[in-house]
Amino acid sequence: MGFPEGFLWGAATASYQIEGAAAEDGRTPSIWDTFSRTPGKVLNGDTGDVATDHYHRWKEDVASMARLGLGAYRFSLSWSRVLPEGKPNQKGFDFYSRLVDELLEHGISPVATLYHWDLPQELEDAGGWPERDTARRFADYAERAGRVLGDRVDTWTTLNEPWCSAFLGYAAGVHAPGRTDPADALAAAHHLNLGHGLAVRALRGVVSPSARHSVTLNLHHLRGDAEAVRRADAVANRIFLDPMLGRGYPADLLADTAEITDWAFVRDGDAGVIAAPLDVLGVNYYSPTLVRVWDGTSPRENDDGHKRGAATPFVGCEGLEFVRQPGPYTAMGWPIDASGLEELLLRLHREYPDVPLMITENGAAFDDEVVDGRVRDERRIAYLRDHIAAAQRACDAGADLRGYFAWSLLDNFEWAYGYDRRFGLIHVDYGTGERTWKDSAFWYRDAISASLASD
Ligand code: NOJ
Repeated sequence: MGFPEGFLWGAATASYQIEGAAAEDGRTPSIWDTFSRTPGKVLNGDTGDVATDHYHRWKEDVASMARLGLGAYRFSLSWSRVLPEGKPNQKGFDFYSRLVDELLEHGISPVATLYHWDLPQELEDAGGWPERDTARRFADYAERAGRVLGDRVDTWTTLNEPWCSAFLGYAAGVHAPGRTDPADALAAAHHLNLGHGLAVRALRGVVSPSARHSVTLNLHHLRGDAEAVRRADAVANRIFLDPMLGRGYPADLLADTAEITDWAFVRDGDAGVIAAPLDVLGVNYYSPTLVRVWDGTSPRENDDGHKRGAATPFVGCEGLEFVRQPGPYTAMGWPIDASGLEELLLRLHREYPDVPLMITENGAAFDDEVVDGRVRDERRIAYLRDHIAAAQRACDAGADLRGYFAWSLLDNFEWAYGYDRRFGLIHVDYGTGERTWKDSAFWYRDAISASLASD
């Protein structure tokens, strides 16, 4: 049957992961600048100071996107570049303005994410996401970005993977700001939800009426026994999905976390704000998660994919174990299983039928090497091919899927793993900044053009 007409083929990146120029043109530090400078937090002590140098090479990168045949490019704005210490920075906004213009000149739709984890450090110093005021500051930033870019951005995304911001950042401590308090993580989740709702409302007031509004969630595709799946699903998925899609917080989530917090940070009226109407739900998918209730005697597995921290990000799930699944695995150690993507899309279609879907990230890290000017990454090609086929099956079965974005356009700063993990379609030599198309980039270019030809 093929993908629907107007289906968007894209690739994604994020500001801190690619831009570099960390102290240029007025940008001030974000929590990732601070965290990556803290010894022991990021592999090899890597930082985003230079990254892929996209801040200087953006034209060359857009030219690559055009050669790939991308219909859309998903990028994020660095909050502390455009509003360093809360003050508007023209040079920061100019960078994104030029980028958006260049994309449009090449017929590529800009898909702009406001928050891909790089909270300005001064907001963390004031308490970070566990503080309600951070949500208000986020909406203020959204409005300012909307005023500058709102006539040209096709799709706005408030947050990228708020689960990671809240639970990897404030419970497991493996992401910035590196805190480990489960109650703070739940408060952070609520204020991310609130910030999302306030930001959608603010954007709708200032941007083009034809713009689409979205959020991107890393929905965990959970498998295992029913009770374990229910509990992990509450704190990993429904904690964002339900309030954002108008259902409020799930009763089982409140019950399961009652010993951690009384949820007093939720105020009258918040539910209505968080439920601001959405045009698209962005889904990031990499692999499924296998969970079961721990029998309390056998050695407990804890393969939750985030082993670098002692604390678990799955707060309120103490009696569960995360079970290692059969391979093959990517270089992240994540199992490769495309059927999870199909099942996840169909679940969303079934349980939240009103919101159109977009795969805003999907991809794999492998140990790529340039040999004689070529990167033979056939495992990435197989990964992409199988996941796109899974997405296609979900579409054929009725899921309302509007687009697919490969993660990532370029190799980049993979958070706690630094430059050690390569997700790009395009290889980056971190010594010289040189870009080399991997075989997967050529494959993706051909897959896009074949799909468009069959429309
Ligand atoms: C999701 C995040 O949004 C992105 O920043 C990250 O690099 C990929 N997953 C791969 O881990």
